[in-house]
Amino acid sequence: MYRRVWSEIDLDNLKHNLRILKTYVGPVGLWAVVKADAYGHGSVEISKAIQNSNIRGLCVASLEEAIELRENNIKVEILVLGETVPEGVPLLQHHKITQCLFRPEHLEGWGKQLDSNLPAPNIHVKIDTGMHRLGVPPASLKNLAREFQKGPFEPTGIFSHFHVADTDSKSTNSSLNKFRKALKESQWMEKFPKCERHIANSPALLRGPEYYMDSVRLGYLLYGSKPNGINLKTCPPVLPVMSVHARVVDRKTIEKGEGFGYGNIKKFNEPKRLAIVPIGYADGYMRNLTGSAEVLLRGKRAPVVGAISMDFLYVDISEIPDVEIGDKVTILGKQGNDEITMMDLALWGKTIPYEMLCSFGKRPPRQFKNTESKLKI
Ligand SMILES: Cc1ncc(COP(=O)(O)O)c(C=O)c1O
Repeated sequence: MYRRVWSEIDLDNLKHNLRILKTYVGPVGLWAVVKADAYGHGSVEISKAIQNSNIRGLCVASLEEAIELRENNIKVEILVLGETVPEGVPLLQHHKITQCLFRPEHLEGWGKQLDSNLPAPNIHVKIDTGMHRLGVPPASLKNLAREFQKGPFEPTGIFSHFHVADTDSKSTNSSLNKFRKALKESQWMEKFPKCERHIANSPALLRGPEYYMDSVRLGYLLYGSKPNGINLKTCPPVLPVMSVHARVVDRKTIEKGEGFGYGNIKKFNEPKRLAIVPIGYADGYMRNLTGSAEVLLRGKRAPVVGAISMDFLYVDISEIPDVEIGDKVTILGKQGNDEITMMDLALWGKTIPYEMLCSFGKRPPRQFKNTESKLKI
């Protein structure tokens, strides 16, 4: 590592989270959501760390993400939550990957591309219960069941997704009821008794067992972020998996009224001392954080000032006189007795913690901590 910025991925904390979440859901299956490079944590390493821990399987967004896992020796069931075009069907078959169906016409298109030497891929049918993104209309389930009954595809799962489970109990209950009603009216489970039902994401987990069904799909909680919102139960004590750090590469003194950084967007009424820190918006530290964010340096909070650029930012160290080149700067995570959380960053950047997590994944090299690799979960 020659540029002094990195993220630390604490696989011990990941396993701790998985352990307590599994205890929390009991006999219900737990799909670990590792799409988008495991929310910026590294999907291969995350999957390797948990694949033998009795998880139900892994959820990804695309066939490409699924194949990357298979090529890295990940053996557990993988469910693609997004679309796969018909040309991808032989790869689904070859790599034994389970595919989401969200338009009834998928079956016909996929059927034409099947490799007749291999079993058809397993299918999880997604129903639209209110998010209006992916999912077949509940009313189309009866016809879809008839299509499935003709073969060769088998629906091994049926699911939906909550879009306001953290904020809106009425709408979330309505989605759950639509899901149940759709199954009942289409007599889906009578026709496909082994079909696995799942709908809950992290915030729904904190609503209670009536939302769990046969399995839950968890990302946010697994990576140690705590959903907050109305009517959620107390969150189990998950620990953050990602932290982000850098080192001071230089210090500058700015005179009263002098500009600095792109656009001279900030000027001070007194001289200031600034530390130059090598992390910028290309590392996921988005420009929107300009003017509100803080970092930890020598165990103290210091404000990020001036414009955040592609590879660097400025920290006002006027109140921390002993800062030296090489000092560790914590962008996300704990230093001393203080901590910058993902929620802090999201609020400062006027975004959501999910986006911050994914953004950090792109450039800072990852260091993995995995001391309890021999412990069983
Ligand atoms: C379809 C689907 N299921 C489950 C999840 C996991 O959600 P969470 O990270 O809130 O647990 C996501 C995440 O975006 C998703 O898109």
